[in-house]
Amino acid sequence: MSATTGLQDVSARAGGDASSRSLHVAIIMDGNGRWAKRRGMPRALGHRAGVNALKRTVEAAPDQGVGVLTVFGFSTENWSRPAHEVSELMGLLKAYVESDLERLDREGVRVRIIGRRTGLAPDIQEIIERAERRTASNTKFTLQVAFNYGGRADIADAARAFAEAVERGEAKAADLNEAVFESLLSTSAAPAPDVIVRTSGEQRISNFLLWECAYAELVFQDVLWPDYGPEALSAAITEYRGRDRRYGGIAADDVAVAG
Ligand code: FPP
Repeated sequence: MSATTGLQDVSARAGGDASSRSLHVAIIMDGNGRWAKRRGMPRALGHRAGVNALKRTVEAAPDQGVGVLTVFGFSTENWSRPAHEVSELMGLLKAYVESDLERLDREGVRVRIIGRRTGLAPDIQEIIERAERRTASNTKFTLQVAFNYGGRADIADAARAFAEAVERGEAKAADLNEAVFESLLSTSAAPAPDVIVRTSGEQRISNFLLWECAYAELVFQDVLWPDYGPEALSAAITEYRGRDRRYGGIAADDVAVAG
């Protein structure tokens, strides 16, 4: 595709030998509400404890072979929560960036926020842009926060972007293939996730990384997000490392006997 369409080939994104490169771990941080309820606390305190768990996890991830960590901070469906809870979650993103941006930048962390910008208040958009701008040249580790993100919305937005390129005469329908489509998703700058973790014992994808999860290993952990940290992350990675990823092929051990 030409540079003018902004559509590029990102086919190198999927697959590869995960044992020889850093991992992309994606986490559905679930269970903040239940954690608070068990303690007789308001849900907001569960979300605040969730931010501390996020800080512990980000801190531990690079030493555990993780190069990209994507977390689900606010979904397109979370707007249906009570206004005060929505406002709490917005405030937490802002407070997290305000308190941690300088340190994240110093430690070589690139921050990216994926999801729809439209619909977010101007101050939230501004802080997102500040975090991305300030850390744009960092390469040690990438933290992607999915915020106002929904897998279906992201796919629909990518489809619309391609249709608009066709309308402008910058692309033809025949140009569309998986790699081109993938380049239009808000996740296109990162490799596909190797493993998607969901905490709290629930076993659902809940509209997270729907395209990107095609070959991800799914790990469900019976720990509420506010209790998460280095040990739980390590357990998730150990479980992932024990899996046999075949990408639709056959196990390496079986190649010799198959032939
Ligand atoms: C799910 O728990 C969690 C969320 C909807 C939000 C996740 C947010 C944080 C961990 C705070 C940090 C976020 C950012 C962006 C800095 P739940 O409320 O659905 O828990 P429940 O299922 O037990 O009710």
